[in-house]
Amino acid sequence: MSPETVERSPAPILIPGIFTGAYLLISAIAAVLRGNIEFLLYVGVMLILIGAVWVVHRRVSLVSGTLWCLSVWGLLHMLGGLVTVPPSWPTNGDSGVLDAGYRHLGVLDVSATAIDITRLRLGDRAQSVEWFVSSVTEFVSPHPWDLWHDRAVLHFLTEEDDRAEYRRRLESSMAEDGAVVLSTFGPEGPTRCSGLDVRRYSLEDMTSVVGFDFSLEHHEMVDHTTPRGGAQQFLFCLFRRTSGAP
Ligand SMILES: C[S@@+](CC[C@H](N)C(=O)[O-])C[C@H]1O[C@@H](n2cnc3c(N)ncnc32)[C@H](O)[C@@H]1O
Repeated sequence: MSPETVERSPAPILIPGIFTGAYLLISAIAAVLRGNIEFLLYVGVMLILIGAVWVVHRRVSLVSGTLWCLSVWGLLHMLGGLVTVPPSWPTNGDSGVLDAGYRHLGVLDVSATAIDITRLRLGDRAQSVEWFVSSVTEFVSPHPWDLWHDRAVLHFLTEEDDRAEYRRRLESSMAEDGAVVLSTFGPEGPTRCSGLDVRRYSLEDMTSVVGFDFSLEHHEMVDHTTPRGGAQQFLFCLFRRTSGAP
């Protein structure tokens, strides 16, 4: 048989057609029952696309696999609009650390109110976090941590004794190779915050607070824009535990 005489018989369209029609009908009914009239527009768009596929199929005889792929693609499209995402799934991205996939998290604050606000914001997801209401200078960690992230807390410790205590708590809490990210006001930063005196940090100041067990890996001076539009100079440092792990 010469290549010119080969003819491809069109794939049967009845079964994928019934399947597609069935889920479109169910989707349309579900949209009406939920009062989601906007979704009917998408069902209408699907009908136009199905008409286009039908015309193409008549002309080029799409194979069965292509027809099924298009049908399943349409089904996923419908499900994307109608299936409700479980409440435990991250959808609004306001819990940056949890949404980024980090696990075994702990949050420490001296203020029980600050902790409560964060717990409430997280809802059910708060159960996956360890909560500590304590001054960082009195923190007794129940286990070692791989990452310590202090954003705008250390600069509230204005007394040398408190900074020494901070270093001791860091030393007793951090795992071998653990990373420490610290951010405080820089040398040109504010002298007060939330009505309290703060200490401003140069790179040398910061390095002396963490002590000899940690090596500086990175630092940056950043101008942070406050919600009111003001600028605050912040020093960000990344240290790595290189010795003295408990
Ligand atoms: C500027 S807020 C920063 C909060 C949070 N780290 C952030 O970046 O959004 C400072 C927080 O440090 C807490 N704080 C101040 N002194 C502290 C201490 N000695 N131990 C633990 N938390 C302290 C305050 O209660 C407050 O919630």
